[in-house]
Amino acid sequence: MIQRKADCLRGLKPAFLSLFTWELKLPPPKNVLSKWHLRIAPEPNGMLTLRRKGEASQSAVTQNKPHTKLQTAALGALGPVTSEERELLEKLDLERLPRHVAVIMDGNGRWAQRRHLPRVAGHRKGTQSARTTIETCAKLNIEALTLYAFSVENWRRPKTETDFLMALLREYLRKEMPLIQRNNIRMRFLGRIEELPEGVQKDVREAVEKTAGNGGMVLCLALNYGGRAEIADAVNAILAERNGHGNNGRITEEQVSGHLYTAGLPDPDLLIRSSGEMRVSNFLLWQIAYSEIFVTETLWPDFNRTRLLEALLEFQRRERRYGGIREDQAEQEKPARVAGQ
Ligand code: FPP
Repeated sequence: MIQRKADCLRGLKPAFLSLFTWELKLPPPKNVLSKWHLRIAPEPNGMLTLRRKGEASQSAVTQNKPHTKLQTAALGALGPVTSEERELLEKLDLERLPRHVAVIMDGNGRWAQRRHLPRVAGHRKGTQSARTTIETCAKLNIEALTLYAFSVENWRRPKTETDFLMALLREYLRKEMPLIQRNNIRMRFLGRIEELPEGVQKDVREAVEKTAGNGGMVLCLALNYGGRAEIADAVNAILAERNGHGNNGRITEEQVSGHLYTAGLPDPDLLIRSSGEMRVSNFLLWQIAYSEIFVTETLWPDFNRTRLLEALLEFQRRERRYGGIREDQAEQEKPARVAGQ
């Protein structure tokens, strides 16, 4: 695993490498059911753990009870809010927010075309929506936010557009660094970073180094990212490790998860896609296995705090069963099989 990371990070400074090594030592999420009537639930220590039937923590979702103190804190942290946002915030249970939100920021081109503007104008406007989303998620204490900024397939676009997107990203990292630091955000980049233009790689390295000591939300920018490429990279990394150690056992799901670009992060609980398309577009294919999907018709440049709060609220209305059934519908004490056995 470390070998693959080292391969991915070819040419990076030693301090940066040691950061990644440290991250890789984090224990992987525990997502294997080991006893009947146990549930996957977030723990304050940042791990996915299992809860027995009847234990606290799920109740807030079903009862949708707001937590007054937290609610007031969030209202304060978010600064001035519109009456619509206030109404949504009052309904939101801040103890039941998704740990990890992933976003497919789609619709920039259409937004621009509808205004008879060049497509790139939509991308530029889209950075404002990214800013609002990042800041709001950080202030709501969401653990991780992943934004799909550029896919491996996006290289099929005209060179003027891909050049613009690369330049916009560099400008974004420079201009938004104060906001990122102010909000104690740690940055990560997901994708084949080593294939990006040299200047972008340099800015990516610097953003990671500058924010390495921050303990707040992890902001992942998926750049030159492909879900299939990520899985192939992970499998190759596992094989490369095995060649060194002569281990020929079966590859487990935990091993794959631990070798993905997102190693150490919880899987996204909520996947948001703007602009109404019902596709996952090669985004986090492994990690979204049990994500709740929220698709809004809103084009990304129009995506604002209200739309984000609506998505979070909709997430809290969903019942997550992870392939099981609701506890009150269970007729037998023990599950037929326990996952992974
Ligand atoms: C998809 O819209 C969007 C992209 C390929 C780029 C996303 C980039 C940004 C929002 C700006 C940069 C953001 C950061 C955080 C640096 P599209 O062009 O496919 O839209 P369309 O489907 O309407 O054509």
